[in-house]
Amino acid sequence: INIENFQNDLITWFKREQRDLPWRKDQDPYKVWVSEIMLQQTRVDTVIPYFNRFIEWFPTIDDLADADEEKILKAWEGLGYYSRVRNLQTAVREVRENYNGVVPETPEEISKLKGVGPYTAGAILSIAYGVPEPAVDGNVMRVISRVLSIWKDIARPASRKVFEQAVRELISHEDPSAFNQALMELGALVCTPTSPACLLCPVCEHCQAFEEGIQNELPVKTKK
Ligand code: ADE
Repeated sequence: INIENFQNDLITWFKREQRDLPWRKDQDPYKVWVSEIMLQQTRVDTVIPYFNRFIEWFPTIDDLADADEEKILKAWEGLGYYSRVRNLQTAVREVRENYNGVVPETPEEISKLKGVGPYTAGAILSIAYGVPEPAVDGNVMRVISRVLSIWKDIARPASRKVFEQAVRELISHEDPSAFNQALMELGALVCTPTSPACLLCPVCEHCQAFEEGIQNELPVKTKK
């Protein structure tokens, strides 16, 4: 794979084809954070109105840190997994206490926050701060498994590290935000779980699975 051409084809496509989503309007780390927490177990179309209302009710870290529990649970009603919003409030309180209200910019510090795992850390750092860290979720594992023909079982927690290492080697240092979001977008719109639209794919010429005609065999996913 020619990494520079891959980055360029992927990012050019993303800049042209990306969906207009409310959390893409600015790079405020708090808004990126809220969106990524909501998107972890919930689909994009469902998240959009919840995200907009949440930001109306709690526009800043201070507003969320000061909010009543009743109101944050109300804001989350229908999304499920309420520990997500409880942890988020705990974490913004930590940001206010320990980091002067500024979301930290290093993997070490951001990962200490309640509810911020490796995926969320990488998403915030890359999208809000332009730090070249991987943000590997199920979509990204699927895309990378095909591009590089990686036959690791994505259902096994240990596999994530393999994909993170692969993304570290591929990621654009010029535009980590566009690169990571492009992988997510490609997984959502083109490189789908069944019947991927390879003929529309901006990086098919870099894709090992497409070259071998095995895109439907990847990723390997045993059921848990
Ligand atoms: N899924 C997870 N994060 C996302 C994002 N930032 N945009 C679209 N889909 C996503």
